[in-house]
Amino acid sequence: MKLLVTGGAGFLGSRLIESLLQPDARDLLPPGARLLSLDLSPCPLRDPRLASVVGDIADRDLLSRLVGPDTALVFHLAAVVSAQAEQDFDLGMAVNLDATRALLEVCRHQARAPRLVFASSLAVFGGELPRQVPEELAPLPQSSYGTQKAMAELLVADYSRRGFVDGRVCRLPTIAVRQGRPNAAASSFASGIIREPLAGLPSNCPVPLDTRLWLSSPGKVIDNLLLAARLDGVRLGPRRALNLPGISVSVGQMLDSLERLGGPGTRGLVGEEPDARVAAIVCGWPGDFEVERAMRLGFVRDSDFDAIVRAYQNEASARA
Ligand SMILES: NC(=O)c1ccc[n+]([C@@H]2O[C@H](COP(=O)([O-])OP(=O)(O)OC[C@H]3O[C@@H](n4cnc5c(N)ncnc54)[C@H](O)[C@@H]3O)[C@@H](O)[C@H]2O)c1
Repeated sequence: MKLLVTGGAGFLGSRLIESLLQPDARDLLPPGARLLSLDLSPCPLRDPRLASVVGDIADRDLLSRLVGPDTALVFHLAAVVSAQAEQDFDLGMAVNLDATRALLEVCRHQARAPRLVFASSLAVFGGELPRQVPEELAPLPQSSYGTQKAMAELLVADYSRRGFVDGRVCRLPTIAVRQGRPNAAASSFASGIIREPLAGLPSNCPVPLDTRLWLSSPGKVIDNLLLAARLDGVRLGPRRALNLPGISVSVGQMLDSLERLGGPGTRGLVGEEPDARVAAIVCGWPGDFEVERAMRLGFVRDSDFDAIVRAYQNEASARA
């Protein structure tokens, strides 16, 4: 039996693999099963059950070699993230849409339809939005990234309807606080305004302080991706896409948490230089969602933003 994680060297992909290798994930990765990471770079983890394949997800031949009749589960996380997909239209289409379709096609031709968990994003929503996004709101993306994710979501739903895969789509909140360095996501600042000042470094907040974000810690998102993999597809019916739970927080409230938990002076390290390019993407995303359906299915969220910052601080000191 085989599991595949695309984007396995990325921030979430490598954490997901770390969790899959733990004893409490034995139901997903039983003894004797193999775990494959596919990414442009090697997965940083080492384990005899893990094979790190360095390659391009747009390479259909490679996908055909990696996915076989014994592939039970695919986590599809490889993507060109928001700001980069906006900057490089062709690359975003090739990776976020064309390669997703190629992956689905390879899955389709297996004797047994694999379970597939697709990491989508709240960026599928946009336009005139109510204060809180209702469960059934139709996607209306306002960026190429959101459009590519929305198209891929529809493909996952149709391939599932036809029985080619057993898909589930998780629309991820913005993830904060990310360990490591800034990335090419337009929402990268949501981690930077906490992570950098906690390390004594300056940072910049490019959007107005009353901008509301829908946030989740990395830990809760990994729990939710694992839960999505365990869920019986019948419980989703034809509605394969789920808005994952998060918490609705304004950027100003995030900075209040920083001051409370990081100590005096940390807030002062955050500048407020507007960036129209970032604001054009992030300020169009919804900042609050109704998530009763996901909560009923057992998905989880953080209690508040202080808890997210504390979890980040604990992990940072454990990794230091
Ligand atoms: N982090 C967030 O806030 C967030 C929010 C919503 C959705 N998501 C989605 O979750 C997934 C994981 O996000 P992340 O934060 O870990 O991003 P990340 O950039 O750390 O990871 C994405 C990985 O995909 C890989 N990749 C890109 N192009 C590839 C290609 N052609 N072939 C193979 N691998 C390729 C990259 O090398 C990278 O390691 C993505 O699909 C992203 O769109 C993330």
